[in-house]
Amino acid sequence: MGADYQAEQANPEGERIPRHVAIIMDGNGRWAQARGQARHQGHRAGLDAVKAVVEQCGRRGVGALTLFAFSSENWQRPRAEVRMLMELFMRTLDTEAHRLSENNVRLRVIGDRAQFSDRLQERLAEAERLTADKDGLHLTIAASYGGRWDILQAARRAAEEAMAGRLDPASLTESDLAGYLSLAELPEPDLFIRTGGEKRISNFLLWQLAYTELYFTETLWPDFRAGELDRALADFARRQRRFGLTDQQLRQRDRA
Ligand code: FPP
Repeated sequence: MGADYQAEQANPEGERIPRHVAIIMDGNGRWAQARGQARHQGHRAGLDAVKAVVEQCGRRGVGALTLFAFSSENWQRPRAEVRMLMELFMRTLDTEAHRLSENNVRLRVIGDRAQFSDRLQERLAEAERLTADKDGLHLTIAASYGGRWDILQAARRAAEEAMAGRLDPASLTESDLAGYLSLAELPEPDLFIRTGGEKRISNFLLWQLAYTELYFTETLWPDFRAGELDRALADFARRQRRFGLTDQQLRQRDRA
């Protein structure tokens, strides 16, 4: 699905709600350091924020939430931190997959999962299977993910189709190529949030963020809870999305 004018719905109070929110959860390490704790304790506290934000997205009527949990580049972090993060993912899948299913949440994982251990790959597939028929919040975890990796794997798949004679490269459109990307079946994010004070996209959903509204906050991820999400949603509701059009064109379309 491509960028779509007036894509979002409004809630009963008439406030525009994004259909899809994408978040870079930054600041776990600094949160822990500020308390004299080890970095992994920051990641554990970050998990509590994940749960709070998932619940609040459900309450506020956000249709899809995509969280950047581990980037292609994060493999280069100290081995102990990577190991701890993998254990945390594994344990979280064990304890939370059923709860997600009970709450009608559909879980999907995007990224280069071949990099994960066989055990973790099995757990991911199992959690996806368990929630596959849920039609509430679409929760996507980006893990071992990079926006460039995503575009590359899409280009590879399109090239394979062309080699097999099923695709004419000359008539390939943007929306055809988008169909090979990881989030092909979801609308593009309406709202991107990055916590932790940095103002970068850091190789997240490069293609899909083309027309997304960007929101940055100094709040460190473990402190980002329901109230912080509400603030971001309120900020989003005040934005005028133009998708390259002029003010006048937008007014004409509103009247039509
Ligand atoms: C970035 O903060 C955060 C991560 C690389 C890991 C995110 C993981 C979680 C929130 C925990 C579990 C999540 C799921 C979905 C199971 P940072 O370490 O770069 O913080 P810093 O910039 O302060 O060092």
